[in-house]
Amino acid sequence: MTSATSMRTGLCGEVGIGDVGSRVRLCGWVARRREHGEHLAFVDLRDRSGIVQCVVDGTVDLRSEYVVAVAGVVRRRPEGMENPSLPTGEVEIGDCTVEVLSAAEPPPFLVEDRAEVDEVVRLRHRYVDLRRPRMQANLRLRAAAVSAIRRAMDRQGFCEIETPLLWSPTPEGAREFAVPSRLHTGDFYVLPQSPQIAKQLLMVGGFDRYYQIARCLRDEDLRADRQFEFTQLDMEASFVTQDDVLGFVSEAVLDAAEAATGARPQEIERMSWSAAIDRYGTDKPDLRIDTELVDLGDVFASSEVRAFAAPSVKALRVPGGSQKSRSALDGLVERAKALGAKGLAWFRVAEDEGATTLDSPLARVLSDAERDGLVRTTGAVPGDLVLVVADEHRVACTVLGQLRVELAGKPVGEGPYRYVWVVEFPLFEALGADGHPVPAHHPFTMPHPDDIDRMETDPLSVRSQAYDLVLNGWELGSGSIRIHRADIQARVFHALGISDEDAESRFGFLTSAFRYGAPPHGGFAFGIDRLAAVLAGEESIREVIAFPKTQSGADPLTGAPKALPAAALADLGIRIAAK
Ligand code: AMO
Repeated sequence: MTSATSMRTGLCGEVGIGDVGSRVRLCGWVARRREHGEHLAFVDLRDRSGIVQCVVDGTVDLRSEYVVAVAGVVRRRPEGMENPSLPTGEVEIGDCTVEVLSAAEPPPFLVEDRAEVDEVVRLRHRYVDLRRPRMQANLRLRAAAVSAIRRAMDRQGFCEIETPLLWSPTPEGAREFAVPSRLHTGDFYVLPQSPQIAKQLLMVGGFDRYYQIARCLRDEDLRADRQFEFTQLDMEASFVTQDDVLGFVSEAVLDAAEAATGARPQEIERMSWSAAIDRYGTDKPDLRIDTELVDLGDVFASSEVRAFAAPSVKALRVPGGSQKSRSALDGLVERAKALGAKGLAWFRVAEDEGATTLDSPLARVLSDAERDGLVRTTGAVPGDLVLVVADEHRVACTVLGQLRVELAGKPVGEGPYRYVWVVEFPLFEALGADGHPVPAHHPFTMPHPDDIDRMETDPLSVRSQAYDLVLNGWELGSGSIRIHRADIQARVFHALGISDEDAESRFGFLTSAFRYGAPPHGGFAFGIDRLAAVLAGEESIREVIAFPKTQSGADPLTGAPKALPAAALADLGIRIAAK
C-alpha cells in the first residue's frame, strides 16, 4: 500500500537509491538541523518510517520538532558522505524548499532511543515519547500481533462479539472499579475484570465460537506485568474439550508471534501443574533456564542431619555458583527465609586431587553416602553450587523455584521464547483466612469428573479442568472447561462459602441461564499487553501501551484521577467523606 497522500509523495525512511532523480515531497518532524555558513543547511527529517537528510541552499528558520513539508529531488550523496548507520544513508534530498506546517517548542527530551528519560517525564509528554523509534516499533509490533490474532480466530470460525463495559460484579479475585449511576442514584455498575460471565451467557445463547479483543479493568496493585486496564484475547467455545481450546489458542498465539517477530515458534509443549511445581517450583516455569529442581528425599531418607528431617528435601544446582562469596551466600539464606523457608543449606562443589568435595558448614555432618548422593542426584560438577531446602513439599519447591529465577536473572523479553501449557491445575489453591478454599482459577471452572465427590470432604485434592499458558516465566493466559450445570455450580459456590442468597443476588442471572439449556463449554483468555511486551523484548507492559498509568496508578499526562466538580458529584448523589 502506498503511503502517499495529497500532502506527501511517500515516507522519509523509504527513500532509496532507486529513487535518485525523482521529485519528492515529504512531511515530518525536524530531527536535527545543521547550518554550514549562510549558504547551506542540512535538515534531518523524521516520520514514523525513519529519517532522511534534506539539503537546503541558504538558511532555514527551523528548530527541532517543527513539523515541515520538504520538497526536493532525491540524489546520491557525494562520495565519502554516505552514512551507513542510516537506512537512507546513501541518498539525500537536494534543492529543497521547506514549508513550516507547525512550529514547536523545544521538546522536553530528545526524540531518540538512547536518551535516558525518567518514566514520569516520558508519560507526561507521551505524545513526544511516542515519536521515538522504540515506541513506534513496539506499538506497530503489537498491532501486527492483534491483527494476526483476529485473522486466526476468524479463520477458525469464531465470531467477534462486544460485551458491556458497564456490568455487574464477577467473582474473579480482583477488586473492581465501580461506576456510579446517575439515573439509579446510589447504585453502581462495575467495570468488567473480564468478559467471563458474558461469554458464558453467549454460549447459552448459541454463539458456539466467540472471541473478543477485550478491554478488562481491575483495581489491583500495578507492576511491570499489570495495569488497571489491559487487553485480552478472550475466547469461548461450546461442545469442546480442553484439547480443542488449546488448539484454537495455540493457533492464535503462534500466528501472533510469527507476525511480531518473523519466526514461528514450535508447537507449544504441555506440562502438568504438579510436574511444574515439582521440577520448577512454580506454575509459571521459565524453560529458558536449564536447571531443574531435584528431589533428595531418597538421599536423606534416614539422615541424622536434623535440618533435613522434613516431608520434602529439594535441591537446586547453580552452575558455576561456587564462586559466590560468603556474604552472597548469607544473602541467599536470608532471601530463602523471606520467601518462607525455615532455612537454606548451601554446598560449594570443588575438586581435590581428582575427588569431588563439598564446602559447606553442613558438609562435615553428612555421611559419605549422603555426600555422594547429593552430588550424583543433582549432577553437580566442580565449580557448581547446590542449594537445598527441606520443608513442606510446596514450600521447598516454591522457595528454590524463586531462587532459580532470581539467580538466572533473565529479563522476560530476552529470547529464546519458551511457551508452555500448564494443565491439570487443582480446583482450589489453598484454604483462605475464612477457612474456605480459594479458587485456583475462578468459580466457574469444571472440577475433574473423577474428583467431584471429594469437593466437600477434601477440597484441596480436587483437580480441575483448568490450564494456563506461560511464556518465559510470565503467565500469558488462563482458561478452563466451565461448569454448565446449575447443580455443580451450586456445589462449588457452597465450597467457596458463597451462600445461596449471595450467589443468587450476585450471579443468579448466570445460574438461571444454565436452567434454559447450557451447552458444555470452555475457553481461555491471554494478555495481549504481556505477549506484545515479551515479543518486543521489553520488561514492562507499559512499553507496549500508548497511554499507561504509572506504578501508583496516576496518569501524568491528563492528571487523572481527579476530583469532580461538586455539581457532578451532586448529580450522582455522592458526597466525599474524606480525602
Ligand atoms: P485471568 O484472570 O487469568 O483469566 O486473566 C487472563 C490474562 O489476562 C492478563 N491479565 C493482565 N494483564 C495486565 N494487567 C493486569 N492487571 C492483568 N490481569 C490479567 C494476563 C492473564 O493471564 N476470564 C478468565 C479467562 C478464562 O477463564 O477464560 C481470566 O480473565 O495475561
